[in-house]
Amino acid sequence: MPLLSALRRLGSKPVMQDWPGLIEAYRSWLPVSAATPVITLHEGATPLIPAPVISERIGRGVRVFLKYDGLNPTGSFKDRGMTMAISKAREAGSEAVICASTGNTSASAAAYARRAGMRAFVLIPDGYVAQGKLAQALLYGAEVLAVKGNFDRALAIVREVADKYPITLVNSLNPFRLQGQKTAAFEVVDALGDAPNWLCIPVGNAGNISAYWMGFGEYKAAGRCRSLPRMMGFQAAGAAPMVIGHTVEQPDTIATAIRIGNPVNKEKALKAQGESQGAFMAVTDAEIIEAYKLLGSGEGIFCEPASAASVAGLIKRREEVPFGATVVCVLTGNGLKDPDTAIENNDSKFHTGIEPDTATVAQVLGF
Ligand code: F0G
Repeated sequence: MPLLSALRRLGSKPVMQDWPGLIEAYRSWLPVSAATPVITLHEGATPLIPAPVISERIGRGVRVFLKYDGLNPTGSFKDRGMTMAISKAREAGSEAVICASTGNTSASAAAYARRAGMRAFVLIPDGYVAQGKLAQALLYGAEVLAVKGNFDRALAIVREVADKYPITLVNSLNPFRLQGQKTAAFEVVDALGDAPNWLCIPVGNAGNISAYWMGFGEYKAAGRCRSLPRMMGFQAAGAAPMVIGHTVEQPDTIATAIRIGNPVNKEKALKAQGESQGAFMAVTDAEIIEAYKLLGSGEGIFCEPASAASVAGLIKRREEVPFGATVVCVLTGNGLKDPDTAIENNDSKFHTGIEPDTATVAQVLGF
């Protein structure tokens, strides 16, 4: 039984120390056994935060919540999939893992692999990974290869390497990744008491939208929610293969996390969209940055640009949201991952070279 619901039933409030990580919390829903060594950093149990400013912007009596998965141990939702992928790799006796990544997967793979005592190899598109993510992969002890090509090319290479050599692929082609990630849908339902009407989510390689749909479906089948959400997947306009219906050879967007032209999970994601009567839609970089800034200065929530695509999409399509609907926007990664984008894109005043005396400071403050 999921720990959160168990604690609720007992009438006690869950506190962070009690949270054992998502494999233990949702053990009966996951393909693990007593033989699985659980490699965990106590990921999951991320907050579902009400967003009054965005709700106001949408109007129509809509309630917007943010599933802030940037509060996972390495700062992104990837930890949900990685605790499963690495635990199962370890169970199978693997000694090394490999992935291609726009940054977050590499950070997460590195952290969990090293915790399991395994080697981690990561391929990243040279020059297109946010600073914080690169810092993490290096600090966690991965071997990092910056390749002169985009994510899609790097993924094609790691697939071949994993085929030929004794090394486990931990991209979302690894089915255990999506198993772990589906727990985010469980948490959303556990928190709301039912599924939301809309689930807005950024889409890159299209694994997470597929995982959420699996999670909602399993909960519905078990009677834990009455309804299912419409799955609304948002891509950056310069990297929107799910929207335009074919591969993008040269994907381009400020949201480097979703700078992907050929999503490997497209079939699963199309199924989620079709079954949920959802949609794939594009948002421009300008719309992403507007939502990113609104989240920061309006809601006090710092997410990375790719994550803000979910809110940008909701704002763009606000007239289609049913009156009184409950909407969850997934914030997939922490803003600290990409400080450069924040420093270059904000409306705050930043005074530099201030003389260190009270009079000057008071004058600058306008007193
Ligand atoms: N948001 C963030 C912050 C991401 O890092 C990613 C994917 C996505 C959204 C899209 O999720 O691929 O499941 O559709 N990042 C991968 C990586 C590609 O390598 O870190 P998806």
